[in-house]
Amino acid sequence: MGFSAPDIALPKAEPGQFFMFGVKNCEKDPLLKRPFCYFRRRGNTLEILYRVVGKMTSIMKGLRPGDEVEVLGPLGNVYPMAQAVCKTPLVIAGGVGIASVYPLIERFKGSAILFYGGRSKKEILLRKELRAISKKLVVATDDGSMGFKGTAVDAARDFLNGRNPDDFVLYSCGPNGMLKAASALGIQGYIASEEKMACGIGVCLGCAVKTKEGYKRACKDGPVFKTGEIIFD
Ligand SMILES: Cc1cc2nc3c(=O)[nH]c(=O)nc-3n(C[C@H](O)[C@H](O)[C@H](O)COP(=O)(O)OP(=O)(O)OC[C@H]3O[C@@H](n4cnc5c(N)ncnc54)[C@H](O)[C@@H]3O)c2cc1C
Ligand code: FES
Repeated sequence: MGFSAPDIALPKAEPGQFFMFGVKNCEKDPLLKRPFCYFRRRGNTLEILYRVVGKMTSIMKGLRPGDEVEVLGPLGNVYPMAQAVCKTPLVIAGGVGIASVYPLIERFKGSAILFYGGRSKKEILLRKELRAISKKLVVATDDGSMGFKGTAVDAARDFLNGRNPDDFVLYSCGPNGMLKAASALGIQGYIASEEKMACGIGVCLGCAVKTKEGYKRACKDGPVFKTGEIIFD
């Protein structure tokens, strides 16, 4: 979905950040705005990429050109990119986690290796665009209907076999199980949490994640964390 937001789109949003997104005239149901990653900008248009899972996303699906939306953002921290100057960015995305890493891969200008997983072929989006902006794209599906049969992390583990993990810097976004597995690959880097959020601005503590330094707020201290920082139960 693209929406015109000149104040936000130019030039503020950075890879890793997100927006709290609400639909006008729906203040009571759903009551809370929902978080969506900064996906990309095209001119003055800011784009998000979303999967319909519940009330808000169903309403969003019914929006038509000209409808007004409420957007708070950009929020949260960004993917640090300094290490990628001397290391190869190895990106692992699961499902709509691809929205978070897409602008990052664009920034890397063809140097990133992307492992992108979904349950089946139907869930793999933007293949042509992703191939154009990545050094290498490896698609993985749980049911084997496209590319590698297994998870994106399994595919990355295969790729790393015989390679030095220190030559890479990890960037990953997807479900918690995937982030946990990606963190265990032994590559230093960053993961973006998709913890559920209520306020998005650090006041409700609804998005607490357990880290080695105690609880942190995914919306304010994250959503991007260093690998090894989050304690996955
Ligand atoms: C920082 C951040 C960035 C996100 N970016 C994107 C994005 O770019 N594209 C996208 O499609 N989604 C993204 N999400 C998830 C998105 O916010 C939820 O899918 C959305 O809130 C669902 O709203 P809903 O009213 O349609 O569904 P609800 O009725 O609120 O929920 C429907 C179902 O989805 C589950 N659910 C809700 N939120 C989450 C969540 N955060 N993680 C896992 N399950 C959830 C609920 O438990 C429920 O089972 C992001 C989440 C976070 C925290
Ligand atoms: S969502 Fe309220 S503190 Fe993070």
